[in-house]
Amino acid sequence: MNDWIGTPVASAPARVKHARLLAWVRDIAELTKPARIAWCDGSEAEYAALCDQMVASGTLHRLDAAKRPNSFLARSDPADVARVEDRTFICSEREEDAGPTNNWIAPAEMRTKLLRLFDGSMRGRTMYVVPFSMGPLGSPIAHVGVEITDSPYVVVNMRIMTRMGERVLDVLGDDGTFIPCVHSVGVPLDAGQADVPWPCNPQNKYIVHFPEAREIWSFGSGYGGNALLGKKCLALRIASVMGRDEGWLAEHMLILGVRSPQGDKRYVAAAFPSACGKTNFAMLIPPAGLEGWQVTTIGDDIAWIKPAADGTFHAINPEAGYFGVAPGTSYESNRNAMETLRANVIFTNVALTDDNDVWWEGMTKTPPAHLTDWRGQSWTPGCGRPAAHPNARFTVSATQCPSLDAEWDNPAGVPLAALVFGARRSDTVPLVTEARSWEEGVYKAATMGSETTAAASGKVGEVRRDPFAMLPFCGYHMGDYFRHWLEMGQLVAQPPRIFSVNWFRKDDEGRFVWPGFGQNMRVLKWIVERCMGAARARETALGLVPEYDDLDWSGLDFGASRFSSVMRVDPASWKRELDSHDALFARLGKKRPASLMRERERLARGM
Ligand code: OXD
Ligand code: MN
Repeated sequence: MNDWIGTPVASAPARVKHARLLAWVRDIAELTKPARIAWCDGSEAEYAALCDQMVASGTLHRLDAAKRPNSFLARSDPADVARVEDRTFICSEREEDAGPTNNWIAPAEMRTKLLRLFDGSMRGRTMYVVPFSMGPLGSPIAHVGVEITDSPYVVVNMRIMTRMGERVLDVLGDDGTFIPCVHSVGVPLDAGQADVPWPCNPQNKYIVHFPEAREIWSFGSGYGGNALLGKKCLALRIASVMGRDEGWLAEHMLILGVRSPQGDKRYVAAAFPSACGKTNFAMLIPPAGLEGWQVTTIGDDIAWIKPAADGTFHAINPEAGYFGVAPGTSYESNRNAMETLRANVIFTNVALTDDNDVWWEGMTKTPPAHLTDWRGQSWTPGCGRPAAHPNARFTVSATQCPSLDAEWDNPAGVPLAALVFGARRSDTVPLVTEARSWEEGVYKAATMGSETTAAASGKVGEVRRDPFAMLPFCGYHMGDYFRHWLEMGQLVAQPPRIFSVNWFRKDDEGRFVWPGFGQNMRVLKWIVERCMGAARARETALGLVPEYDDLDWSGLDFGASRFSSVMRVDPASWKRELDSHDALFARLGKKRPASLMRERERLARGM
């Protein structure tokens, strides 16, 4: 780290000659008026020094060195625990370009607001300059961002979640393109004023994107996607706009590899809304009976997908780590994640055990007899409060994942054979269907709906339409996004096959019928075998489906009648389902693509 008190430009490492970068850093420093400026080099020593500093200030708590080496616990302010969708803005020049699913404020008005908020917002604090690459360094699919932040917690998380530091400045050179990202917790410190462990602004939170200028400004929150600006802000909202303009896709998708016992390998990208087991699926361990199959992980949250010279789409994971939801993660649900978390982790808002380790709901069947909860209060089982916040997180490097795919850092990305779209539905949507065409697949993805869970606000069990699992992350008009997807299918000779899945069908007693978790491998195997031309399918009104005997049941007792119950298509439910698709399309007005309307009519006729 290069610290310097004085004029901001002079504080840059001597080799930074990038005039636009230097000028921008100077402008932001003049606006935010920090006490110090530090250019981050991304080194281990810098990471360790910042963690020590945050242990001393009370932001981090060091966990037991034997049980959880080099790991820390952060407790956020109880009012700063999740992404704030209602404070997230897409400030495109024209309101119609943001569309009905985004909050919009005119860019000039928003800039005036931001200039007022950021004026002196870093007073008394260090302003960190964090160069980062989303994607393998120098990859033609990757893009560089620079985040300016006054939060050391953000710096250490960015070091895990992205390729960060000096090596990115080398890629940027003297005039490379970067996406400027400005972040302030919004709590200036007056002379002599003591800091708090988790500064954030209780009155004002703004997560702002300027799509045309490709700029991000975030004020008032230090948590996750609000503050680690490479993730949802850059890699999804801004990147989706770049993809629209440049002919590629930025998607809320995991990427995994599947290798058959014969050594034949295919890559699959899959989109699921939050709380549908995305990280578990990305790190799936095949169950007893399918041991010869292997699943490897490229990414658990975001995929950037670009047309490649070989006539397929190639995908990279733009991130370098996992910012995963801890509650529910266990050796039963996700052994690979638990192994990934053995060391070098930043936990946020989980519970602390009396022997200085971490715990969260679902980690073990029986909770410890006593804990310190995510707010720092004494906790015992049955006290009526969760020990970990439902949105408690871990931040950990992808390189620690036992199932990490050998190609995860390949600058060329991996060719995609299949795209999978899934959501949480206790009825209506079958276990698996394959689209007969790109258009039918886009229709399925566009009309995805998921039942809300206790972790999200709103009524539990209500179906919320979440097209492509991108509702909170698409940086432009959803109707234009659908059109872009339809056009992308024409750009390559071999577009991936598109599948829809639903692991969450329930029986009349409200019990899940499908066992899920590792057993999802049986569906994944059929999907991959379809791509290999090695599995049969039957045509139905909803697309192509497997018969009972087309799935491999070795090692699992799951009879034909249970299979038909998870595959059942009930015409009356589908009539209601199509009506609710209409409500989504009505919101898009003139921008709803005609070919999706034709798909809708075809579906209705087939029922
Ligand atoms: C996430 C989310 O944090 O989708 O990944 O909410
Ligand atoms: Mn996500």
